[in-house]
Amino acid sequence: MVGPKRHFLPIILITLAAFIFYTYHNTSLPSSIIDSNPNFTLRNPIQINPNSIISPNFTFLIKVLAFNRFDSVSRCLRSLAAADYLGDRVHLHIYIDHFAFLTDDDSVDSKLSESRRILEFVDGFDWKFGEKVVLYRTGNVGLQAQWLEAWWPSSDDEFAFVVEDDLEVSSLYYEFVKTVIVNFYYNASNYSPSIFGVTLQRARFVPGKHGNKLQLDDQTRLFLYQLVGTWGQILFPKPWKEFRLWYDKNKAKGNKPFLEGMVTTGWYKKIGEKIWTPWFIKFIQSHGYFNIYANFLHERALSVSHRDAGVNYGKTAGPDSQLLEERSLDFNILEMQPLSSLKWFDFCFREVRPGRYVRNVEELGALLHSLQKRDSIFLINLLGVSDAVVRNLLCHFERLNIRNYILMGPPSDSLFDLARRGHPVINVDQFVSSIGMNKLTSQGSSLETIKGIVAKAYVIKKFIENKYNTWVLHGSMLLTSDVLLESGDPKDDFCVANNLELFYAKSSPSSEKIWTNGFVSKVVAMADPLGRKDSTTLSFVYIVTKLLEQNGASIRRVDETSFGMKIGSSGLGKSSLGDKKLVYWSTEMELNSIQKRLEELNLWSIDSELSCTAVICHKS
Ligand SMILES: *[C@@H]1O[C@H](CO)[C@@H](O)[C@H](O)[C@H]1NC(C)=O
Ligand SMILES: *[C@@H]1O[C@H](CO)[C@@H](O)[C@H](O)[C@H]1NC(C)=O
Ligand SMILES: *[C@@H]1O[C@H](CO)[C@@H](O)[C@H](O)[C@H]1NC(C)=O
Repeated sequence: MVGPKRHFLPIILITLAAFIFYTYHNTSLPSSIIDSNPNFTLRNPIQINPNSIISPNFTFLIKVLAFNRFDSVSRCLRSLAAADYLGDRVHLHIYIDHFAFLTDDDSVDSKLSESRRILEFVDGFDWKFGEKVVLYRTGNVGLQAQWLEAWWPSSDDEFAFVVEDDLEVSSLYYEFVKTVIVNFYYNASNYSPSIFGVTLQRARFVPGKHGNKLQLDDQTRLFLYQLVGTWGQILFPKPWKEFRLWYDKNKAKGNKPFLEGMVTTGWYKKIGEKIWTPWFIKFIQSHGYFNIYANFLHERALSVSHRDAGVNYGKTAGPDSQLLEERSLDFNILEMQPLSSLKWFDFCFREVRPGRYVRNVEELGALLHSLQKRDSIFLINLLGVSDAVVRNLLCHFERLNIRNYILMGPPSDSLFDLARRGHPVINVDQFVSSIGMNKLTSQGSSLETIKGIVAKAYVIKKFIENKYNTWVLHGSMLLTSDVLLESGDPKDDFCVANNLELFYAKSSPSSEKIWTNGFVSKVVAMADPLGRKDSTTLSFVYIVTKLLEQNGASIRRVDETSFGMKIGSSGLGKSSLGDKKLVYWSTEMELNSIQKRLEELNLWSIDSELSCTAVICHKS
């Protein structure tokens, strides 16, 4: 577990819709779910031979962190030595922290003799699987340094298993870990750069305040969860190195790993640098990374913490889980699943769906299935919007619990990264080509604008057909409420703001009739000549409004100043947001000024690394 407080939470649930993650070419959706035995049948099981397809350079290091608990460390080492290492060479590194020097310490002699006893035991301990290395500290460094200094990966094929001394592992643990590494690290089709490791501990804690209960159904054997699991954490080399460099930078600059809305931030404020997990958690949140967990049912796990008295516990609390050993095995723990059929959970234990990167109509259909029914969808154009502004907007969506949104923009690394983090995106260029609307004659920046217009027109058609109302917004607008214009159900099919790229389309039989009847082609026919003239009227709202008028549609026009507030480069003075639902600015405005104005309005919610300053959980 991650720190001093432990929560005891039960387990249940799940639905499904998986998306192929990070594989540009694979467009398939979840294959059928096979449920012959409801208890112990995996979805899409794959048998893996743990000795197959692995790099000759694969190295597994065990890093035992010990202190002053003889009984703990001896139990821990014995359990490690009892595991089956499949004939692999596995090295054991033992880091023994020193006791702190206190003045007037009557117990120095007994502390010294306990240390000697531990050293003697460790020296005499027979490790026949590889090298044994002992590091005995000269002073007390504490758990944070014990963890962080335990490992600097020497290659991308080196893995570390960090073991606090009050853990006990199952004799089966290594077979499981190796199988996970074979399947999720060395098999390119199941690899994700978002995965930082695998933990052997049972998931039992949700760090986001007011988060969901930790519930999984019996068929969920493996899943991804953002939280580190320190009672049996295996670390993957690349993310760990990245973390160490990140920690270094932030520590050196005097930054703190504060993350509002997280229980762990409270621990940090209380005990500070004694623990390392608040730093790691902050890093994971800013990078959008995940950990592999197993759900072995009946409170079983491949490693358990005895929670012996020490830094984390005033007094011994006893084992947190049942150790899963052969005799209690009622299913094959080595059965793996493709990454695409696993579920992903954030710090609120809310399901996230990474990899929704839409390039064609089929993928758009899949994306629609992943959204919540009933609600409207916000379709947001990111053309010309800086990363910082996009990230700030998404933090606001998290705050407002807006989950039905789709971002669209020209292809870029950051667009792809947004999808990796679980935000649905449309790659406008590929999408427009895929719908056969790529015979556009405009050039340069007007071409990008026109592609955006065409994509919007097409996407709205799909939304209307699928009974979704659509709000079309631009990234240079920031919602401050999840209800725009008080319009739970406006009577008009369409609504436009006078001077903003803001548009609403209701899904109704009459709107469907207009929008599905060759409407997209009409949009193309009108936009393309305007683009060639580089006309200032090249705007989605302008074009569709004209076309809708020609079709006799009912359009409501609203004055944007009635619900929105415009910000500019000069300070706001005394003006306040009041009950305005939207803040907007010119796309020409400099990022610095946007940030300043939004800070004045308390609407700037990201840090210097562009990650949300808070985790906001909503029950789902
Ligand atoms: C499997 O599920 C059935 C009910 O669906 C239950 O009766 C049975 O005890 C379960 N088996 C195990 C091993 O949990
Ligand atoms: C293994 O490591 C050696 C030395 O670093 C390197 O030259 C070789 O390419 C590696 N092999 C593989 C398959 O990664
Ligand atoms: C890699 O993973 C894919 C998807 O799970 C699977 O179909 C394939 O058999 C795996 N390859 C190997 C060599 O195990």
